[in-house]
Amino acid sequence: MAELGVSEMERMNTFGIGADAQRGLGAGMTLPLLFLATVVWWIWQRHKANLESGLPGTFGLPFIGETLTYVAKMKSPLGNFVDEKTKRYNGAQAFKSSLFFQPTVIATEVETVKMIVAKEGRSFVSNYPSSFALLLGRFNGLNMNGENWKRLRKFVISHIMRVDLLKERMADIEDLVVRTLDSWADDEGRTIYVEDETKTIAFNITALIVLNLKPGKVSQTMQRDYYPLIEGMFSLPINLPWTIYGKATQARVRILKTLEEFLQSRTVKDDVFDNYVQLLQEELPPGSPPALKHEMGLDLLTSLLFAGHDTTAATMVFSVKYIGENPKVLAELRREHEELLKRKQPGERISWDDCKTLSFSNSIITETLRMCNISTTVFRKSLEDVHVGDYVIPKGWLVLPYFRAVHFNPSIYPDPYTFNPFRYQDAAGSKLPFFGFGGGARLCPGMDLARAELCLFLHHLVMKFESWELLGNDVVSYFPFPRLSARLPIRVKRRTPPQQPST
Ligand code: HEM
Repeated sequence: MAELGVSEMERMNTFGIGADAQRGLGAGMTLPLLFLATVVWWIWQRHKANLESGLPGTFGLPFIGETLTYVAKMKSPLGNFVDEKTKRYNGAQAFKSSLFFQPTVIATEVETVKMIVAKEGRSFVSNYPSSFALLLGRFNGLNMNGENWKRLRKFVISHIMRVDLLKERMADIEDLVVRTLDSWADDEGRTIYVEDETKTIAFNITALIVLNLKPGKVSQTMQRDYYPLIEGMFSLPINLPWTIYGKATQARVRILKTLEEFLQSRTVKDDVFDNYVQLLQEELPPGSPPALKHEMGLDLLTSLLFAGHDTTAATMVFSVKYIGENPKVLAELRREHEELLKRKQPGERISWDDCKTLSFSNSIITETLRMCNISTTVFRKSLEDVHVGDYVIPKGWLVLPYFRAVHFNPSIYPDPYTFNPFRYQDAAGSKLPFFGFGGGARLCPGMDLARAELCLFLHHLVMKFESWELLGNDVVSYFPFPRLSARLPIRVKRRTPPQQPST
């Protein structure tokens, strides 16, 4: 280059040769430098936040952090990642880790947990793993924040979970519960796998509320495809035919296909999907592509079918287990439902309002959720440095308010590993901190529907069956969601004479 005169350089520049060569050289140097600088900056920020946070804990391996240990412990009935860490750090109320590829704060102390869920949208926002968005659609409620989330939540509360609408559906919901429980009674000697049966009850109810879909081939196909999808929700997003995630994405494709075919076959169009797309039409910026609204509508349906059924089904399973192990609880539950029937005309349906009066049944639901922790935590990200006592939750970290730690804290819930629904029966019990349905601005909008479904389930369970024998040695695993290893096999003993008014 030194031998070239100015005119030579100008000539090369005119033809773009020198400029390209210079750009190539520049870019060749700049990109690695930029990358290096970003990595150094990232490490420095992480190190600085780590030092300043004052939190005990370790980040584990580079990149993957402590995710593998966390998952392994959550899968095992004996290990508990959070309890072990809390003990190791002398009862620390929060500690740091690195989970799901992010620096993480896990908060176990009740006031901090309350604060995190209460500051939704201000200091913290929802931050579920990207596998959720890939499998439930990017417009599922959990992965959304801001205006689109508010729009969706308002629609769910005011159109789908509207109490007057749900009240009208109670008889249909009850029929779906009875349909399954009657099949148990028909063949007393058979082994019933409660998990399989309750998944069908809860899926059929959710499909009825969300899609107005009656049980049949379409609902069966869709329900079957949900389980590989759910298994993939916390998996590494490696999309190969044999990976958990790969199988989950194939299941999503099938679910969407079934859903689209169902939507096209409908005769009545004034339903959840069309009403939501219509609302988006009015509220999204003019010119938003129709395909976007269609996608948002599909994501709403697929995520509701997930959120509404797997959670409620698991609560039913665990309630059968816990009540089956506790004759005193069973007796008190039956007494409450016999009292209810005395207040009703023969053959009169159980209403939404009846369910609200069933205080012991609702205590059983609360206690079941406290013990089994369908949501052990929720996923948040800090929008700013948040000072809590003598430590800081640094901005931009994954934040896990750990509900399970509150629910098993012996100073809040004495004898926490004992199933005791009686604990809620006095004035103090009704004030116990409970996060079974989350809290704050994201409190589960399906909570009242779930409680109504569960009350109907408990009613028919104790009215149709004298008792049930737990047959398997089920162990509980908490990942990706709480499960019983043997799917809770039971054998039922019918009540004689049947106390059940015909429905
Ligand atoms: C026992 C059953 C249920 C449990 C334990 C449960 C639990 C939860 C929890 C803990 C959250 C909060 C998530 C967060 O804060 O990040 C939540 C949110 C949600 N749940 Fe439920 N749920 C149940 C039933 C239902 C039902 C029946 C439906 C509807 C059919 C439903 C729909 C939703 C939706 C749409 C959200 C997202 C709310 C938002 O992001 O604003 N859930 N649920």
